[in-house]
Amino acid sequence: MNKIAQIFDSLEYGPAPEAADHANAWLDSKNRSFGHFIDGKWTKAGKTFASTNPANGTKLADITDGTAADVDAAVKAARAAFKGWSALRGYERGKYLYAIARMIQKHARLFAVLETMDNGKPIRESRDADVPLVARHFYHHAGWAIHLDTEFPGMTPYGVCGQIIPWNFPLLMLAWKIAPALAAGNTVVLKPAEFTSLTALLFAEICERVGLPKGVVNIVTGEGDTGAAIVNHPDVDKIAFTGSTEVGKIIRAATAGSGKGLSLELGGKSPYIVFEDADLDSAVEGLVEAIWFNQGQVCCAGSRLLVQESIEERFIAKVKTRMQKLRVGDPLDKSIDIGALVAPVQVERIKDLMKRGVAEGAVVYEPDGQVPSDGCFLKPALVTNVSPANTLVAEEIFGPVLVAMSFRTPEEAVALANNTRYGLAATLWSENINLALDIAPRLKAGVVWINGTNQFDAAVGFGGYKESGYGREGGCEGMSAYLKPLWEKDIKVAAAAKPVAAKPANPLDGGHLDQTAKMYIGGKQARPDSGYNRPVHGPKGELVGEVGDGNRKDIRNAVEAARSAAGWANSAAHSRAQVLYFLAENLDYRRDEFAARIKAQTGEDGTEEVALSVERLFAFAGWADKFDGAVHNPPMRAIAAAMVEPLGVVGLVASDSRPLLNAISLLAPTIAMGNTAVLVPSSRHGLSMTDFYQVLETSDMPSGVVNIVTGDSLSLAKTLAEHDGVDGLWFMGSAEGSAMVEKASVGNLKQTWTSRGLDYDLTDPRFAGDYFLSKATQVKNVWIPYGA
Ligand code: NAI
Ligand code: MG
Repeated sequence: MNKIAQIFDSLEYGPAPEAADHANAWLDSKNRSFGHFIDGKWTKAGKTFASTNPANGTKLADITDGTAADVDAAVKAARAAFKGWSALRGYERGKYLYAIARMIQKHARLFAVLETMDNGKPIRESRDADVPLVARHFYHHAGWAIHLDTEFPGMTPYGVCGQIIPWNFPLLMLAWKIAPALAAGNTVVLKPAEFTSLTALLFAEICERVGLPKGVVNIVTGEGDTGAAIVNHPDVDKIAFTGSTEVGKIIRAATAGSGKGLSLELGGKSPYIVFEDADLDSAVEGLVEAIWFNQGQVCCAGSRLLVQESIEERFIAKVKTRMQKLRVGDPLDKSIDIGALVAPVQVERIKDLMKRGVAEGAVVYEPDGQVPSDGCFLKPALVTNVSPANTLVAEEIFGPVLVAMSFRTPEEAVALANNTRYGLAATLWSENINLALDIAPRLKAGVVWINGTNQFDAAVGFGGYKESGYGREGGCEGMSAYLKPLWEKDIKVAAAAKPVAAKPANPLDGGHLDQTAKMYIGGKQARPDSGYNRPVHGPKGELVGEVGDGNRKDIRNAVEAARSAAGWANSAAHSRAQVLYFLAENLDYRRDEFAARIKAQTGEDGTEEVALSVERLFAFAGWADKFDGAVHNPPMRAIAAAMVEPLGVVGLVASDSRPLLNAISLLAPTIAMGNTAVLVPSSRHGLSMTDFYQVLETSDMPSGVVNIVTGDSLSLAKTLAEHDGVDGLWFMGSAEGSAMVEKASVGNLKQTWTSRGLDYDLTDPRFAGDYFLSKATQVKNVWIPYGA
């Protein structure tokens, strides 16, 4: 009686612990020791490491550290299972996914408790967010499996997918990886993160119990080197990774040239923008979700608060008041807001970052009170007095630490928001719909939440811009990431080019030619920085002209010009279409001249190639205003507008075959979608594209949208690949050149497409459609709530 009266008085929560008996019983039934799940069977435990409960340091189970041989066995099982699984009717695969979803729902509480014990996240989150989203993901993808043939005609699964996931949402990330892979007909080898393998192992048992054909899902536990063994296994067709940008880059480099499919979902430092007209109390609640959900160990955490100066003081005061009420403690307690971080090493990492930030001038606010001392607990923290260069502003902290800065104008908010190498998510709060919808498209992020935050759904794609990775998970885009065109398997290796019969060139030989083709940069003809030209020979080795020998400096100028023409992306698609129609028309006027130029360089009759090039320009003019997004209806009062956006600056390196058509086929879809381009034409037959700048000049093409740099394609491709101002790079050429491009693109994780020495026949109409359009774009999902 007395006690209840006291509670009324203090309004304190009493303890509300969730029982752990079922999870413990399951662990006991396995003797708390696990091997891998390979080919539908459990292997004996090998060399093991402990999985612990970070809230109290107790060991939960011994997990096997997978060896290269274990990975190999799993890949073999997945390969053997692939034939049967991919041949099943989509309906049959859908039924398995549906059965998995049902089993997860049935055992939801067991999964949630086990997740909380292994990871330290509050039971409120594992129970109400993680596990329901897992079930939703399997249901949603059961439907994709059923409708695969009609929705993705001509597409085929990759084969064996290697999937490597992090520890922040162990089961949810497993679902995001396994559900689409299986729906598309792939088989998988998945490695959970070393801190949190248990729910993946429980999931394996679900696969066993629903009678999933053996080998379709294989779970191999282990640390980073086990992951690396999956990445480097020659019989894995696609890698899907979620984790740190650092490891993502290692994986990009490791898979370069392998032809493996790759999707990367990496880190973030997402802005949380509060405008002065926002509903401040809602924005505070949203902020709690944004940065303290899962202790801030969220790739899309709204970890950078940007608040308008006029309300800064008031808003920060509200945040501090709210922070005083956040409850840190036993994650199995149902009324806990903030649980334990995943492991001591993460606690240390965060403390180190905080020390560095403070040394650089940051001021840290923490609420009063103590956190439990015997687990991985940290107080929520609010960091102020920071400039954009402060470590805490620039680095992904991956902990309960919010950094706050202010802005004056919407322009400044956008500039600050985008001032990061990451681009995963962004949140903005304003009661003014015009302002919100003006800002959302300007944020360089794969997901934008308006007046809400951390919303996820299986029907809505999720994934990053810039160094937050590429590829999407969820929705139609997520399915596409597990499928490839069926025709790709029939492409043959390109025949080696015939050597030029030219005599060693005397640099003075070209002197008598009255015309040396210039490069084209920023809408102006440009002489090469090197001061040298390259000869262009005819089929018999005769000199037919010269082009500039471009170098690093020319590429840098061209990229700068392309970046300053970024306004092209904001021009109406209709206007871009008009320019492309005009280009087609003007090229057609000069078809004879272009055909003759092709003939002079290659010896082939160029008539057909010019006609196809004109047609290709028309085709993409037609596409410019049609390659649209979608509006998704997630199960809440919100819509998610999936907007198709350009990548930015795209480097295009064309091959020597069909020097006009191949270059135009890369250029047209790129600019139709609003990208700007730096084009490196064929090294050997560069004159076709240097002639083309005259067409550009007569077609109302804004300067800087198309830049042409001639020279040695390989070295220019390398410069483009290494340039952080280039967002995408397409390379047609040798297998070695392709591998080089993929490897050198690691710096800013630009998206690449390479022909890998294969003979892509761009005369085929399939290249006049969505094949290149999808590569020229990325999808941004803007979540917009409705209702009062
Ligand atoms: P991590 O990126 O090393 O781990 C993610 C997964 O990759 C784990 O399964 C790990 O075993 C595996 N892995 C590690 N090295 C590998 C390699 N060379 N090849 C293949 N797989 C490999 O992340 P870690 O070290 O656990 O966390 C460090 C920091 O990374 C965090 O503090 C956070 O900043 C960031 N991180 C970001 C995540 C995100 O979703 N954005 C998720 C996890 C970590
Ligand atoms: Mg653990």
